[in-house]
Amino acid sequence: MLIAGNWKMNAASMEEFGKMLARAPEAAAKGVDLLVCPPFVLLHRLAEQAQGSVLEIGAQDSHYEDEGAFTGNVSPRMLADSGATAVILGHSERRSDHRESDELVAKKALAAQRAGLRTIVCVGESEEERDAGEAEAVVTRQLIGSLPDTLDPAGLIVAYEPVWAIGTGRTASTDDIGSMHGLIRSGLARRLSSRAVPILYGGSVKPANASQILSVDNVGGALVGGASLKADDFLAIALAAPDGRR
Ligand code: 13P
Repeated sequence: MLIAGNWKMNAASMEEFGKMLARAPEAAAKGVDLLVCPPFVLLHRLAEQAQGSVLEIGAQDSHYEDEGAFTGNVSPRMLADSGATAVILGHSERRSDHRESDELVAKKALAAQRAGLRTIVCVGESEEERDAGEAEAVVTRQLIGSLPDTLDPAGLIVAYEPVWAIGTGRTASTDDIGSMHGLIRSGLARRLSSRAVPILYGGSVKPANASQILSVDNVGGALVGGASLKADDFLAIALAAPDGRR
């Protein structure tokens, strides 16, 4: 299982991060990997502090080129040089606030893999799309568009984050999570011939709902926003993972 924290544009205190590092072995003993994705400017500092720890550091976005005239952007190679081992791509906040398309996410995913980063590609429907009965069609379209068929499934992670569940305190029902993760699982098998890609759930995951969500079939972990800023909450989510699930 992988529990990934997306700090978004927040900086948890170094004290909280220190506690996460100190308690990461407890999660590892349960077979749970921890990944913390801070804002770009903190990457190097946190990665240095995490050296020798089982906790890994990732980024929240990256460009599709290695270098060049792209003001304000950061390349996956630079992230790897800073100590990141993973990157989140196509988060719904990037798709809506920065108009990122499936095509762009696909280019970024290939570039991230070239740089040796594990790549977390996010998909998820909006509330209007769910109400219109289009959730499955939207997620299928995002999967096909955002995952080039030349992508190496070995370094790939998919995160299902229904947009209406992000930061709202609402979560999808375990039935809906199970059916969407099943759909993603079969989509990945068709597209990349892989049955082993971890599929994370994201959207208001908290200590109180983690054990239910992490026990659903085809849930390989969680992508956690708000609750990843507090070490106690982040660790409680990790420790709620069912024993023996990878
Ligand atoms: P919350 O856990 O705050 O709902 O955020 C989820 C998310 O967007 C993680 O990427």
